[in-house]
Amino acid sequence: FELRLHEQFDDTIARDQRIEPRDWMPDGYRRTLIRQIAQHAHSEIIGMQPEGEWITRAPSLRRKAILFAKVQDEAGHGLYLYSAAETLGADRADLTQRLIDGRQKYSSIFNYPTPTFADVGVIAWLVDGAAICNQVPLCRSSFGPYARAMVRVCKEESFHQRQGYELLSTMMRGTDHQRATVQDAVDRWWWPSLMMFGPPDGDSPNSEQSMAWRIKRHTNDELRQRFVDMTVPQAAALGVTLPDPELRWNEERGRHDFGTPDWSELHRVITGDGPCNTERVARRRAAHEDGAWVREAASAHAATQAARARE
Ligand code: 3HC
Repeated sequence: FELRLHEQFDDTIARDQRIEPRDWMPDGYRRTLIRQIAQHAHSEIIGMQPEGEWITRAPSLRRKAILFAKVQDEAGHGLYLYSAAETLGADRADLTQRLIDGRQKYSSIFNYPTPTFADVGVIAWLVDGAAICNQVPLCRSSFGPYARAMVRVCKEESFHQRQGYELLSTMMRGTDHQRATVQDAVDRWWWPSLMMFGPPDGDSPNSEQSMAWRIKRHTNDELRQRFVDMTVPQAAALGVTLPDPELRWNEERGRHDFGTPDWSELHRVITGDGPCNTERVARRRAAHEDGAWVREAASAHAATQAARARE
């Protein structure tokens, strides 16, 4: 019987149709999805911190309102994604516990500091730009709830990216100091943004199986290349230089050649030794602990309501 279910699963994947939560699925498929979706959800939630630091210091009411809305969107993305993980049988409280205990990962990119307001613009332009490159294909991921969550997430991410570009183009039309601040932020975020796509294909243990299951639709290196090709003309239009002496158009390939990120840095950041890892997780832990009374009150209220409904 299980063999028949497996065949049906393989057939659904081969026909490029969606697997839904109640369908039979191999344990490894479920485990891989929970891992990836949880990591993705944690990234959205931790990702609120670097930019959130600028909400009280944004230079105008307009910039403050935009930043507030963007950070709030990231919270919403995290919640959609935790819900998608729940459809696979994961428990949200358990996922949060794993994050704050350091047993589950979140994106390396959110372990870098944001010392200037230009970082807010560069995160939106480069980091959200990389997120879009990675996530648009995930709208066709084989697991229904994940793919559907990605549709809305990507629409909001593309708004985020545009506002970042608009912020940077305003600063680039400003003073020499503002232009230098933008260039400094680009210099700091470029390589970490390339690392967001994960290790090179040869060192990516999950890619082959995730591609076969159509959870991932492209490899890490394919998406990294797509991001570079997309970003180079935008950098030229902005008037900033991307900090890679090897970056050039390759006529033969019809793509850009570019240098190699420092993979040992990615490894260090993923394993907890990035510039802000300790601070990010400590803050998430404190927020979780400070919120314990809200969860208790909500559970007590739900229990009272349920008891009333039974009366
Ligand atoms: N940061 C942290 N961990 C990373 C990583 C990164 N940049 N790149 C890879 N890893 C981890 C993987 O999770 C995997 O962990 P494991 O030990 O649990 O197996 C390990 O390194 C090996 O990497 P693989 O390439 O084999 O892993 P995957 O096949 O899962 O590919 C991925 C990694 C491309 C990040 C993939 O998981 C993915 O596409 N995830 C969905 C998108 C996502 O999570 N994005 C995070 C950023 S969200 C964001 O940017 C928010 C926005 O608001 C800006």
